[in-house]
Amino acid sequence: MADLLTLGVLISGSGSNLQSIIDQIERGALNARIASVISNNSEAYGLTRAQKHGIPHTVLNHQDFENREDFDREMLRVLTDAGVELVVLAGFMRILSPFFLRAFPDRIINIHPALLPAFPGTHVQQKALDYGVRFSGCTVHFVDEGVDTGPIIIQAVVPVFAGDTAQTLADRILKEEHKIYPQAIRYFADGRIVKNGRRVEIRDAGSQDAALCNPPLDR
Ligand code: GRF
Repeated sequence: MADLLTLGVLISGSGSNLQSIIDQIERGALNARIASVISNNSEAYGLTRAQKHGIPHTVLNHQDFENREDFDREMLRVLTDAGVELVVLAGFMRILSPFFLRAFPDRIINIHPALLPAFPGTHVQQKALDYGVRFSGCTVHFVDEGVDTGPIIIQAVVPVFAGDTAQTLADRILKEEHKIYPQAIRYFADGRIVKNGRRVEIRDAGSQDAALCNPPLDR
């Protein structure tokens, strides 16, 4: 068996994506271990999840630091001490400095609750509703210096229904997040990701050729 991939997971809130990663690791479906969870918010429920599973966790409040780089330097220290190889942003509400990005080239990934490049940034479920798109979804991507602009690894699509609120849409998307984030990490752990500029190829991934229509075509 290949060595376990060592993960560092950065959170700011509920940590349901963190939980989905923990669950797959514990089920033996993901050849990885989480060596460090860092939250910039001491109230984040994700910290309790880490604690319940015996995962080392650290609170670093960005307000305690002079500037972004000092904060990132301390995160880098914690992650490096823990031997982290892949940094997983799971609802982490801070922008990373170029200094931090350079420390983990092609080794930082993020999950975003929209089909990028549509709707980067925040409050994106409401933006999808306001725009009237028929499908939204989620994206796992490498992190670069932009906001939600990095190369795409995997996406899942969900329909948007007439009666949706931002919350019902977010819930539908989140269910898919919990599937694709562990999958993306598995690709990484198994060495199946080939990055070519902004295009990412996944080795042996098969293909999806079914077209989706929402609303469906008349029969
Ligand atoms: C998710 O919707 C994720 O896509 C976004 O922040 C949310 C985090 O949720 N980046 P959780 O903390 O993993 O439950």
